[in-house]
Amino acid sequence: MSGINLSLMKKLLLIALNLALLISACTTAVIEDTDPNTLPPIQGVIRYVPEIQGVMTNYCTTCHSGPAASTGVNLTSYQNVRFYTESGNLVERVNSTTNPMPPSGLMPAIERQRIAKWVEDGFPQN
Ligand code: HEC
Repeated sequence: MSGINLSLMKKLLLIALNLALLISACTTAVIEDTDPNTLPPIQGVIRYVPEIQGVMTNYCTTCHSGPAASTGVNLTSYQNVRFYTESGNLVERVNSTTNPMPPSGLMPAIERQRIAKWVEDGFPQN
């Protein structure tokens, strides 16, 4: 095989590899299990409005709202989110690698760190 063909082969191989990576990145659910404790600490207070409400809206309320909320858990009010965080298994589920919420995979660590800080801060409402 000539040198030119060999370098062409290498290029094609690289392109194929990149395509494979791209496709797998697009089709695989992102299971990010970075430990929120390894992030730099959050400065300032985390409140239900706006931070926690934002997390719920972005990751939870498609399933957990309205009369048909998944397993009856409605996460659209301060009282409810506080209840499931303080007295239920919300924190455990959002950090579970085997049984996470949302079911498609763990949220980015920064979102889970916000929830942890909200607990630590004593559930400020707004
Ligand atoms: C795609 C739909 C869907 C999304 C999105 C989703 N959930 Fe769930 N959730 C469910 C279903 C279905 C169940 C009941 C089955 C189970 O426990 O796995 C459930 C159960 C739970 C439970 C357990 C309640 C109990 O009594 O044991 C908690 C807590 C919870 N979800 C919190 C959340 C949070 C917080 C988010 C967002 C970070 C979220 N869920 C996102 C569908 C969803």
